[in-house]
Amino acid sequence: MSELFASDILADQHIIITGGGTGLGRHMAERCASLGATVTIGGRREEPLNETVAAVRDTGGKAEGISMNVREAETVESFLAEAEERSGPITRLINNAAANFLSPSHTLSPNGFDAIVKTNLYGSFFCTHGCGTRWIERGTPGVVLSIATTYAETGSAFVLPSAVSKAGIVTMTKSLAAEWGTYGIRLNCIAPGPFPTKGAWSRLVPDPSIAEMMKKRVPLGRFGEPHELTNLVVFMLSDLSSYLSGANIVLDGGEVLASGGQFNDFIKQDREGVLAMFEMMRAAAKA
Ligand code: HXC
Repeated sequence: MSELFASDILADQHIIITGGGTGLGRHMAERCASLGATVTIGGRREEPLNETVAAVRDTGGKAEGISMNVREAETVESFLAEAEERSGPITRLINNAAANFLSPSHTLSPNGFDAIVKTNLYGSFFCTHGCGTRWIERGTPGVVLSIATTYAETGSAFVLPSAVSKAGIVTMTKSLAAEWGTYGIRLNCIAPGPFPTKGAWSRLVPDPSIAEMMKKRVPLGRFGEPHELTNLVVFMLSDLSSYLSGANIVLDGGEVLASGGQFNDFIKQDREGVLAMFEMMRAAAKA
């Protein structure tokens, strides 16, 4: 893939990426670092953090990894302080760390609900609050990008804690975009549709036949690819999007809208057959 952006578009940026050691977070870390940013990635497990940092440094990028748990306010604060000690003032934040599992809602335990909501919503709040406080005190601008999900708007069966916490993230983003705009702070969300990763798929996609079924829901007929997400991430972190704030951009190949229209199920069927059926109906109506 040839690079779309100027090779120094993120130079001078110190970007925090939670959950940056694995999956899409790792792709974001590698792409941002390749465009000049210094990235600090946070996560619970040291091993993936070390692997990602090594991969970034191997290609000449600047990265630090710090183990942390976004669910704990105090740990987040010391993570941000340590990140600044190592690499200077933070200028961008990506709230990427997330937890999820499939479960009937009526059997969820309080701890199960907590594990997801604390990771997704509290974690995003702690990080956003920590960065925002620093930027406001210093009088410097900043950008927060949070990874939501398409079902934050529609709700979804079997992932209740994820749905409510991601909806909270979207609302936090809109609220703070209004409150913090005066300080030059922009906050936005991306709502990705299906982008396969080991972490998400092992918890949310029980077998390959379900993956095929999920693919059929997407008008573009395929899952998203990491560079398609990071293209948008770079745009939203950079000054190319300097007037964008409070937005939640859906990146799902058309999946959500296609699942709402009353006649959209026809798109999942063989197109020739569907068109032939329409012709038969037309002929019958004329007869
Ligand atoms: C019901 C469950 C459960 C399950 C755990 N619990 N798994 N309940 N069904 N499948 C309950 C446990 O019984 C426990 O409650 C509580 O949750 C906490 O579980 P622990 O294992 O003790 O906690 P912890 O080690 O912190 O693990 C948290 C986790 C784990 C969420 C369960 O999976 C995790 O850390 N995940 C992070 C990575 C991740 O989930 N990635 C996927 C994100 S993808 P009790 O009452 O027994 O103590 C994503 C994409 C969405 O969000 C869009 C897709 C298209």
